[in-house]
Amino acid sequence: MSSVGFIGGGLMATAIIKGLLKQGYAAERFMVSDPDSTRREMLGKLGIKTFQDNSEMLIALESKEAEGVILAVKPQVVKEALTDVKIPELPLLSIVAGFPVSSLEILLPEAKVLRAMPNTPALIGEGITAITAGTRSGEPEIKWAKEILSSLGAVVTIPESLMDAVTGLSGSGPGFVYFFIEALIDGGVLAGLPRQLSRELALQTVLGSTQMVSKLQEHPAVLRDMVTSPGGTTITGLTELELSGVHGQLMKAVLAATEKSKELGE
Ligand SMILES: NC(=O)c1ccc[n+]([C@@H]2O[C@H](COP(=O)([O-])OP(=O)(O)OC[C@H]3O[C@@H](n4cnc5c(N)ncnc54)[C@H](OP(=O)(O)O)[C@@H]3O)[C@@H](O)[C@H]2O)c1
Repeated sequence: MSSVGFIGGGLMATAIIKGLLKQGYAAERFMVSDPDSTRREMLGKLGIKTFQDNSEMLIALESKEAEGVILAVKPQVVKEALTDVKIPELPLLSIVAGFPVSSLEILLPEAKVLRAMPNTPALIGEGITAITAGTRSGEPEIKWAKEILSSLGAVVTIPESLMDAVTGLSGSGPGFVYFFIEALIDGGVLAGLPRQLSRELALQTVLGSTQMVSKLQEHPAVLRDMVTSPGGTTITGLTELELSGVHGQLMKAVLAATEKSKELGE
Protein backbone atom coordinates (compact mmCIF):
# COMPACT_ATOMS: atom_id res chain seq x y z
CA MET A 1 0.00 0.00 0.00
CA SER A 2 1.53 3.33 -1.03
CA SER A 3 2.17 6.03 1.56
CA VAL A 4 1.81 9.79 1.81
CA GLY A 5 4.17 11.85 3.96
CA PHE A 6 3.37 15.17 5.61
CA ILE A 7 6.00 17.73 6.62
CA GLY A 8 4.07 19.67 9.28
CA GLY A 9 1.12 18.12 11.05
CA GLY A 10 -0.94 21.19 11.99
CA LEU A 11 -4.53 22.20 11.30
CA MET A 12 -4.44 21.81 7.51
CA ALA A 13 -2.51 18.53 7.46
CA THR A 14 -4.90 17.11 10.05
CA ALA A 15 -7.91 18.27 7.99
CA ILE A 16 -6.52 16.54 4.88
CA ILE A 17 -5.78 13.35 6.80
CA LYS A 18 -9.19 13.28 8.51
CA GLY A 19 -10.92 13.89 5.16
CA LEU A 20 -8.99 11.08 3.48
CA LEU A 21 -9.66 8.71 6.40
CA LYS A 22 -13.36 9.48 5.94
CA GLN A 23 -12.99 8.65 2.23
CA GLY A 24 -11.70 5.22 3.22
CA TYR A 25 -7.91 5.68 3.18
CA ALA A 26 -6.18 3.47 5.74
CA ALA A 27 -4.36 5.32 8.56
CA GLU A 28 -1.23 3.24 7.84
CA ARG A 29 -0.85 5.12 4.55
CA PHE A 30 0.11 8.36 6.32
CA MET A 31 3.34 9.48 7.96
CA VAL A 32 3.75 12.90 9.55
CA SER A 33 6.74 14.80 10.87
CA ASP A 34 6.19 17.70 13.25
CA PRO A 35 8.36 19.09 16.07
CA ASP A 36 5.27 19.66 18.24
CA SER A 37 4.73 16.65 20.54
CA THR A 38 1.07 17.56 21.20
CA ARG A 39 0.39 17.46 17.45
CA ARG A 40 2.18 14.13 17.12
CA GLU A 41 0.20 12.69 20.04
CA MET A 42 -3.09 13.81 18.50
CA LEU A 43 -2.23 12.30 15.11
CA GLY A 44 -1.00 9.14 16.83
CA LYS A 45 -4.49 8.74 18.28
CA LEU A 46 -5.79 8.58 14.69
CA GLY A 47 -3.40 5.68 14.03
CA ILE A 48 -0.91 7.83 12.09
CA LYS A 49 2.82 7.12 12.33
CA THR A 50 4.59 10.31 13.44
CA PHE A 51 8.17 11.55 13.55
CA GLN A 52 9.87 14.48 15.22
CA ASP A 53 12.41 14.76 12.42
CA ASN A 54 11.50 15.44 8.78
CA SER A 55 14.41 13.44 7.32
CA GLU A 56 13.55 10.40 9.43
CA MET A 57 9.96 10.54 8.18
CA LEU A 58 11.14 10.78 4.56
CA ILE A 59 13.52 7.83 4.97
CA ALA A 60 10.66 5.76 6.44
CA LEU A 61 8.38 6.94 3.62
CA GLU A 62 10.85 5.84 0.96
CA SER A 63 11.16 2.40 2.52
CA LYS A 64 7.43 2.01 1.82
CA GLU A 65 5.92 2.57 -1.60
CA ALA A 66 5.96 6.39 -1.43
CA GLU A 67 3.18 8.21 -3.28
CA GLY A 68 4.11 11.79 -2.51
CA VAL A 69 4.81 14.40 0.14
CA ILE A 70 2.64 17.26 1.41
CA LEU A 71 4.36 20.37 2.67
CA ALA A 72 2.08 21.90 5.32
CA VAL A 73 4.21 24.23 7.44
CA LYS A 74 3.88 27.99 7.89
CA PRO A 75 5.64 30.07 5.18
CA GLN A 76 8.29 31.39 7.59
CA VAL A 77 9.59 27.89 8.42
CA VAL A 78 9.68 26.41 4.88
CA LYS A 79 13.43 26.89 4.44
CA GLU A 80 14.17 25.49 7.89
CA ALA A 81 11.85 22.53 7.33
CA LEU A 82 13.53 21.67 4.01
CA THR A 83 17.14 22.14 5.14
CA ASP A 84 19.09 18.89 4.79
CA VAL A 85 15.98 17.21 3.49
CA LYS A 86 16.18 15.23 0.27
CA ILE A 87 12.99 14.59 -1.61
CA PRO A 88 13.57 12.30 -4.61
CA GLU A 89 11.54 12.25 -7.81
CA LEU A 90 8.24 12.28 -5.96
CA PRO A 91 5.28 14.65 -6.16
CA LEU A 92 5.64 17.37 -3.52
CA LEU A 93 2.40 19.24 -2.91
CA SER A 94 2.86 22.51 -1.06
CA ILE A 95 -0.10 24.19 0.62
CA VAL A 96 2.12 26.96 1.97
CA ALA A 97 0.51 30.35 1.32
CA GLY A 98 2.55 32.74 -0.81
CA PHE A 99 5.49 30.41 -1.51
CA PRO A 100 6.03 30.21 -5.29
CA VAL A 101 6.67 26.99 -7.20
CA SER A 102 9.98 28.37 -8.54
CA SER A 103 11.39 28.79 -5.00
CA LEU A 104 10.32 25.28 -4.04
CA GLU A 105 11.85 23.85 -7.21
CA ILE A 106 15.17 25.47 -6.27
CA LEU A 107 14.99 24.11 -2.71
CA LEU A 108 13.98 20.63 -3.94
CA PRO A 109 15.75 20.07 -7.27
CA GLU A 110 14.35 16.58 -7.85
CA ALA A 111 10.81 16.78 -6.51
CA LYS A 112 7.81 17.16 -8.79
CA VAL A 113 6.44 20.29 -7.17
CA LEU A 114 2.78 21.34 -7.11
CA ARG A 115 1.32 24.29 -5.25
CA ALA A 116 -2.15 24.64 -3.76
CA MET A 117 -4.11 27.37 -2.03
CA PRO A 118 -6.87 25.99 0.21
CA ASN A 119 -9.19 28.16 2.29
CA THR A 120 -10.42 27.91 5.87
CA PRO A 121 -13.75 26.10 5.24
CA ALA A 122 -11.43 23.23 4.21
CA LEU A 123 -11.20 22.51 7.93
CA ILE A 124 -14.78 21.17 7.73
CA GLY A 125 -14.47 19.69 4.22
CA GLU A 126 -16.27 22.67 2.62
CA GLY A 127 -13.30 24.51 1.19
CA ILE A 128 -12.18 25.29 -2.31
CA THR A 129 -8.55 24.71 -3.25
CA ALA A 130 -6.80 26.09 -6.32
CA ILE A 131 -3.93 24.02 -7.58
CA THR A 132 -1.06 24.73 -9.96
CA ALA A 133 1.61 22.43 -11.36
CA GLY A 134 5.33 23.12 -11.40
CA THR A 135 7.65 22.63 -14.38
CA ARG A 136 8.37 18.99 -13.48
CA SER A 137 4.76 17.97 -12.79
CA GLY A 138 2.29 16.66 -15.30
CA GLU A 139 -1.13 15.06 -15.47
CA PRO A 140 -0.37 12.09 -13.13
CA GLU A 141 0.89 14.44 -10.39
CA ILE A 142 -2.08 16.80 -10.81
CA LYS A 143 -4.45 13.83 -10.60
CA TRP A 144 -2.78 12.65 -7.40
CA ALA A 145 -2.85 16.14 -5.84
CA LYS A 146 -6.52 16.59 -6.76
CA GLU A 147 -7.39 13.29 -5.13
CA ILE A 148 -5.60 14.32 -1.92
CA LEU A 149 -7.14 17.80 -1.89
CA SER A 150 -10.66 16.58 -2.60
CA SER A 151 -10.63 15.72 1.12
CA LEU A 152 -10.90 19.48 1.77
CA GLY A 153 -13.78 20.19 -0.64
CA ALA A 154 -13.77 21.40 -4.25
CA VAL A 155 -10.56 21.65 -6.31
CA VAL A 156 -9.81 23.83 -9.35
CA THR A 157 -6.68 23.90 -11.53
CA ILE A 158 -5.21 27.32 -12.37
CA PRO A 159 -2.02 28.84 -13.80
CA GLU A 160 0.24 30.14 -11.02
CA SER A 161 -0.16 33.70 -12.34
CA LEU A 162 -3.70 33.66 -10.87
CA MET A 163 -2.64 32.45 -7.41
CA ASP A 164 -2.57 35.93 -5.83
CA ALA A 165 -6.08 36.71 -7.12
CA VAL A 166 -7.28 33.34 -5.81
CA THR A 167 -5.74 34.27 -2.45
CA GLY A 168 -7.59 37.60 -2.59
CA LEU A 169 -10.94 35.96 -3.37
CA SER A 170 -11.29 32.45 -1.93
CA GLY A 171 -8.33 32.65 0.47
CA SER A 172 -9.36 35.88 2.17
CA GLY A 173 -13.03 35.58 1.17
CA PRO A 174 -14.17 33.65 4.25
CA GLY A 175 -13.11 36.67 6.35
CA PHE A 176 -15.20 38.99 4.14
CA VAL A 177 -18.21 36.65 4.32
CA TYR A 178 -17.96 36.35 8.14
CA PHE A 179 -17.90 40.15 8.25
CA PHE A 180 -21.04 40.32 6.08
CA ILE A 181 -22.82 37.68 8.20
CA GLU A 182 -21.92 39.53 11.39
CA ALA A 183 -23.36 42.76 9.94
CA LEU A 184 -26.61 40.98 8.96
CA ILE A 185 -26.95 39.60 12.49
CA ASP A 186 -26.29 43.03 14.03
CA GLY A 187 -28.81 44.54 11.60
CA GLY A 188 -31.45 42.09 12.80
CA VAL A 189 -30.68 42.98 16.41
CA LEU A 190 -30.88 46.69 15.54
CA ALA A 191 -34.30 46.03 14.04
CA GLY A 192 -35.44 44.40 17.29
CA LEU A 193 -34.74 40.67 16.88
CA PRO A 194 -33.26 38.62 19.73
CA ARG A 195 -29.57 37.88 18.82
CA GLN A 196 -29.96 34.10 18.64
CA LEU A 197 -32.95 34.34 16.32
CA SER A 198 -31.16 36.96 14.22
CA ARG A 199 -28.16 34.62 13.89
CA GLU A 200 -30.35 31.71 12.80
CA LEU A 201 -32.17 33.85 10.24
CA ALA A 202 -28.95 35.41 8.87
CA LEU A 203 -27.10 32.08 8.54
CA GLN A 204 -29.91 30.29 6.71
CA THR A 205 -30.48 33.33 4.49
CA VAL A 206 -26.83 33.32 3.39
CA LEU A 207 -26.77 29.53 2.99
CA GLY A 208 -30.06 29.43 1.05
CA SER A 209 -29.15 32.37 -1.19
CA THR A 210 -25.78 30.77 -2.00
CA GLN A 211 -27.57 27.56 -2.97
CA MET A 212 -29.98 29.55 -5.16
CA VAL A 213 -27.10 31.17 -7.10
CA SER A 214 -25.31 27.84 -7.36
CA LYS A 215 -28.25 25.56 -8.25
CA LEU A 216 -30.22 27.88 -10.56
CA GLN A 217 -27.02 28.90 -12.39
CA GLU A 218 -28.43 32.42 -12.76
CA HIS A 219 -26.50 35.66 -12.56
CA PRO A 220 -26.94 37.05 -9.00
CA ALA A 221 -28.44 40.24 -10.50
CA VAL A 222 -31.28 38.20 -12.09
CA LEU A 223 -32.10 36.64 -8.71
CA ARG A 224 -31.92 40.06 -7.09
CA ASP A 225 -34.41 41.42 -9.64
CA MET A 226 -36.74 38.57 -8.71
CA VAL A 227 -36.87 39.66 -5.06
CA THR A 228 -37.22 43.41 -5.56
CA SER A 229 -40.89 44.33 -5.84
CA PRO A 230 -41.71 47.93 -6.84
CA GLY A 231 -41.52 50.28 -3.87
CA GLY A 232 -40.90 47.29 -1.60
CA THR A 233 -38.66 46.50 1.36
CA THR A 234 -35.77 44.85 -0.53
CA ILE A 235 -35.29 47.66 -3.06
CA THR A 236 -35.34 50.10 -0.13
CA GLY A 237 -32.58 48.17 1.65
CA LEU A 238 -30.58 47.72 -1.57
CA THR A 239 -30.70 51.48 -2.18
CA GLU A 240 -28.90 52.00 1.13
CA LEU A 241 -26.23 49.46 0.11
CA GLU A 242 -25.74 51.14 -3.27
CA LEU A 243 -25.55 54.61 -1.70
CA SER A 244 -22.84 53.47 0.70
CA GLY A 245 -20.87 51.86 -2.15
CA VAL A 246 -20.78 48.37 -0.64
CA HIS A 247 -20.53 46.65 -4.06
CA GLY A 248 -17.45 48.63 -5.07
CA GLN A 249 -15.94 48.32 -1.59
CA LEU A 250 -16.16 44.53 -1.72
CA MET A 251 -14.50 44.53 -5.15
CA LYS A 252 -11.76 46.74 -3.70
CA ALA A 253 -11.37 44.37 -0.73
CA VAL A 254 -10.62 41.44 -3.08
CA LEU A 255 -8.19 43.62 -5.06
CA ALA A 256 -6.43 44.86 -1.91
CA ALA A 257 -6.06 41.28 -0.61
CA THR A 258 -4.66 40.25 -4.03
CA GLU A 259 -2.13 43.08 -3.94
CA LYS A 260 -1.12 42.15 -0.39
CA SER A 261 -0.62 38.53 -1.45
CA LYS A 262 1.68 39.70 -4.29
CA GLU A 263 3.62 41.89 -1.87
CA LEU A 264 4.06 39.05 0.66
CA GLY A 265 5.26 36.67 -2.05
CA GLU A 266 8.05 39.01 -3.16
N1 LIG B 1 -5.38 27.26 7.93
C1 LIG B 1 -5.85 27.69 6.77
O1 LIG B 1 -7.04 27.97 6.58
C2 LIG B 1 -4.94 27.80 5.57
C3 LIG B 1 -5.48 28.26 4.34
C4 LIG B 1 -4.63 28.34 3.22
C5 LIG B 1 -3.29 27.99 3.34
N2 LIG B 1 -2.79 27.57 4.55
C6 LIG B 1 -1.38 27.24 4.62
O2 LIG B 1 -1.22 25.92 5.09
C7 LIG B 1 0.01 25.84 5.82
C8 LIG B 1 -0.27 25.14 7.14
O3 LIG B 1 -1.22 25.92 7.87
P1 LIG B 1 -1.85 25.39 9.21
O4 LIG B 1 -3.01 26.27 9.50
O5 LIG B 1 -2.02 23.91 9.15
O6 LIG B 1 -0.63 25.74 10.22
P2 LIG B 1 -0.31 25.08 11.64
O7 LIG B 1 -1.53 24.56 12.28
O8 LIG B 1 0.55 26.06 12.37
O9 LIG B 1 0.59 23.82 11.22
C9 LIG B 1 1.94 23.88 10.88
C10 LIG B 1 2.64 22.77 11.69
O10 LIG B 1 4.00 22.68 11.22
C11 LIG B 1 4.82 22.50 12.37
N3 LIG B 1 6.22 22.86 12.09
C12 LIG B 1 6.89 23.99 12.47
N4 LIG B 1 8.17 23.92 12.05
C13 LIG B 1 8.31 22.73 11.40
C14 LIG B 1 9.40 22.08 10.76
N5 LIG B 1 10.62 22.66 10.68
N6 LIG B 1 9.20 20.86 10.22
C15 LIG B 1 7.99 20.27 10.27
N7 LIG B 1 6.91 20.84 10.87
C16 LIG B 1 7.07 22.06 11.43
C17 LIG B 1 4.18 23.39 13.39
O11 LIG B 1 4.65 23.08 14.68
P3 LIG B 1 4.72 24.30 15.78
O12 LIG B 1 3.31 24.60 16.12
O13 LIG B 1 5.53 23.71 16.87
O14 LIG B 1 5.39 25.45 15.08
C18 LIG B 1 2.71 23.07 13.19
O15 LIG B 1 2.31 21.95 13.93
C19 LIG B 1 0.54 27.26 5.99
O16 LIG B 1 1.63 27.50 5.14
C20 LIG B 1 -0.62 28.14 5.60
O17 LIG B 1 -0.15 29.30 4.95
C21 LIG B 1 -3.59 27.48 5.65
